[in-house]
Amino acid sequence: MTITTKKKKEIDRRRTFAIISHPDAGKTTITEKLLLLGGAIQMAGTVKARKASRHATSDWMELEKQRGISVTTSVMRFQFKEKEVNLLDTPGHQDFSEDTYRTLTAVDSAMMLIDSAKGVETQTIKLMEVCRMRKTPIVTFINKLDREGMEPLELLENIEKILNIECVALSWPIGMGKGFRGVYDIVNRMIHLFDPRQNKGSGGILEIDDLDDGRLDDLIGKTAADLLREDLDLVINAGPEFDLEKFQAGEQTPVFFGSALSGFGVEEMFRNFVDITPSPQPSRARERMVSPYENSCTGFVFKIQANMDPKHRDRIAFMRICSGNFKRGQKLRNTRLKRDIKISNPIVFMAQDRAIIEEAYAGDILGIHDTGLIEIGDSFSSGEKLHFVGIPSFAPEIFRRVILEDPLGMKKLVKGLQQLAQEGAVQLFKPLYGSEYIVGVVGQLQLEVLRHRLQNEYNVNGRYEAIPFSTARWYKCEDEDARIKFEQTMARAIARDVRDRPVFLSESSWRLRYTKEKHPKVTFFETSDGLYAE
Ligand code: G4P
Repeated sequence: MTITTKKKKEIDRRRTFAIISHPDAGKTTITEKLLLLGGAIQMAGTVKARKASRHATSDWMELEKQRGISVTTSVMRFQFKEKEVNLLDTPGHQDFSEDTYRTLTAVDSAMMLIDSAKGVETQTIKLMEVCRMRKTPIVTFINKLDREGMEPLELLENIEKILNIECVALSWPIGMGKGFRGVYDIVNRMIHLFDPRQNKGSGGILEIDDLDDGRLDDLIGKTAADLLREDLDLVINAGPEFDLEKFQAGEQTPVFFGSALSGFGVEEMFRNFVDITPSPQPSRARERMVSPYENSCTGFVFKIQANMDPKHRDRIAFMRICSGNFKRGQKLRNTRLKRDIKISNPIVFMAQDRAIIEEAYAGDILGIHDTGLIEIGDSFSSGEKLHFVGIPSFAPEIFRRVILEDPLGMKKLVKGLQQLAQEGAVQLFKPLYGSEYIVGVVGQLQLEVLRHRLQNEYNVNGRYEAIPFSTARWYKCEDEDARIKFEQTMARAIARDVRDRPVFLSESSWRLRYTKEKHPKVTFFETSDGLYAE
């Protein structure tokens, strides 16, 4: 059954996205500007303050404080231009975690932030890989134009080459650093002048229909005007045109320039952003595709956050609603547990607070209080057996054997490791041979969180011994003889994950390639999702 027009309208005005960037590119700064635009906060400095106050929320988050970073992910909801926006925050540190990856599985689009002086950096490359996997549409904002940086054409080339995505400039900077005069809005043929002393850095707007218009020379000087004409000639006439379909398929990214610190260019970019990014998209379940416009409410859990508030000792499961609408007090069926769960106090996350909500729609993120039953990747429905895919575990890159300081604590250690793995804080592997556990993570920081939490929450002290694995692959093999031969030959590198799925651990990518060649009947997957692919 399909939904009413009113509900469809609600879903169509949802925009659920995340910002992908390398640390220091200006994510916190631009987030703050977006929240200001959406009226979700009134004062600049709030997001930074929130970042700081979050540090006090629990013991293991002390880590954040010590290292001045954020290890948590949260959701910020606000309105902009009649759109209901859900901005999913991703941790911004080199040692990022699987949380960052998984957050990207719950969005319909992404904003990519690039520091104009640095170009594409490592963390952006990793995050882009996840976006590519899901064909997520990406809008690019090149930031910090008020500082000296790379030439704009060089930046476009840098993005195209490293990220292998076609760039279409929809705005173009005039100068940079001390000589930054503003941007030319290519679509609306307007010059936005930059004045750092003014609100949002705006020094006024001038419509320029014809680039040969002499007013341009008067306004920004003959040299700057000629350079702009030359650049635009190249960008507009020789570059690709914006193609909505290509953009929505994740093959092309529109590019905007600005300075988040002053707010310059942010509103123009975001206006375009909410116009061209898609409303909630269909979600793939093992059984079938689920349309957001289906009447019954479905969703999946992409994140669990424990101990958000030490006063409550609570655990919150973050669920993305995939279809229909949800009403407070509604019962949803957890497919894995085969059990209905009544969601009496669903929460929604605002910029500074969290609040109980009465109703939510496809695209929204619900916070569900949980006592330890819900796991990452769990699917919810109104009764139908559905397993959403696309909330995979990602192949870890760092592996450690956990050695107990006090051998009597084995039971506690196993319990702690299993719970933390179910929560998605780390991945846990039980080798085919041997009694020790191996933990795998995508970022060093996850190991520190693990150590800290095992000590504080489970009262066990562990040592972490390096082991020579550097990558993992989930695998399957229909041919029983080939599987047995593979598992016997590679016995020391075979393990099971916390959900009992078979995993091959490899010392190097070379070894992995060699193994693939030697065992052609075995199929290897970079994410656990592959196991369920047709
Ligand atoms: P992140 O969340 O991506 O890690 O970056 P964040 O917003 O914290 O920004 C990193 C630094 O870059 C901050 O400076 C911030 O003020 C600066 N920044 C962000 N956008 C712009 C911009 O458009 N122009 C210029 N010139 N700087 C920008 P900081 O000195 O590290 O921190 P703070 O003392 O300003 O908070």
